[in-house]
Amino acid sequence: TDYETILIETRGRVGWITLNRPDALNALNSQVMRDVVAAAGAFDADPAIGAIVVTGSERAFAAGADIKEMEGKSGREMLMDDHFGAWGRFAAVRTPVIAAVSGYALGGGCELAMMCDIILAADSARFGQPEITLGVIPGMGGTQRLVRAVGPYVAADLVLTGRLLSADEAARAGLVSRVIPAADLLAEAEKVAEAIAAKSLVALFAAKAALDAAVETTLAEGLRFERQAFAGLFDTDDQKEGMAAFREKRPPEFTHR
Ligand code: HXC
Repeated sequence: TDYETILIETRGRVGWITLNRPDALNALNSQVMRDVVAAAGAFDADPAIGAIVVTGSERAFAAGADIKEMEGKSGREMLMDDHFGAWGRFAAVRTPVIAAVSGYALGGGCELAMMCDIILAADSARFGQPEITLGVIPGMGGTQRLVRAVGPYVAADLVLTGRLLSADEAARAGLVSRVIPAADLLAEAEKVAEAIAAKSLVALFAAKAALDAAVETTLAEGLRFERQAFAGLFDTDDQKEGMAAFREKRPPEFTHR
């Protein structure tokens, strides 16, 4: 657990990843990518973890990819080094991931939040894809995930002008599911993460995969996937336990098997 740019904590069944480059508003350089991808991968491989929270500081979730690191690169280098490629492994984590966003979530920071399953926002949060202002475009999924999250017209407004959304605007647009007073953000994130992590991990994996299928495939393919995944869960101990607990009017004790 030798991470340079993040802090890691496990509380109960929840794994916490806190971006920790305060001098750069948590700008996402390649070390941050390596650290976050490794930490999320380790939590994902651990059946004692049922949810992951990614958060930043009060001032910034992350103010984007590290402009100073990228500035001098050539197109060939960006392509051949696949500079942001490893983020795909973060997006592919099977465990539910919550982004708890306070302050700036810009560029790669907004894109990182959109790689998570749920985005909770402090009332101070600001979301945007300001890359156009730098003479480039989003490169960690922003044009694709934002269109799917908020629709083509709001996405175009953000990507083409670089303007920022407040937490309330982001919630109205569907990017954020809950807006929370800044002082309560982490406590609320913990509650949501604990509520998720208490569920059957097998069912959570299936639910996340099915939700992902909805944005990644056609309706027919997604429905086929859901039907298979739903049926498959009837061979788990947790399905028997969950339904027995309902019948016996007691809380379920999942073994995540
Ligand atoms: C590197 C950054 C940074 C970034 C902030 N800093 N954002 N360094 N990369 N993305 C550094 C500043 O240089 C400064 O360090 C310190 O953090 C504090 O920032 P300030 O600008 O002094 O703070 P403030 O005046 O409060 O302004 C906050 C801000 C502004 C509005 C968020 O920092 C800003 O506009 N940042 C860039 C936002 C952005 O364009 N993001 C998209 C990046 S491109 P020093 O040492 O100078 O004091 C991107 C591409 C993704 O994300 C796709 C990749 C393929």
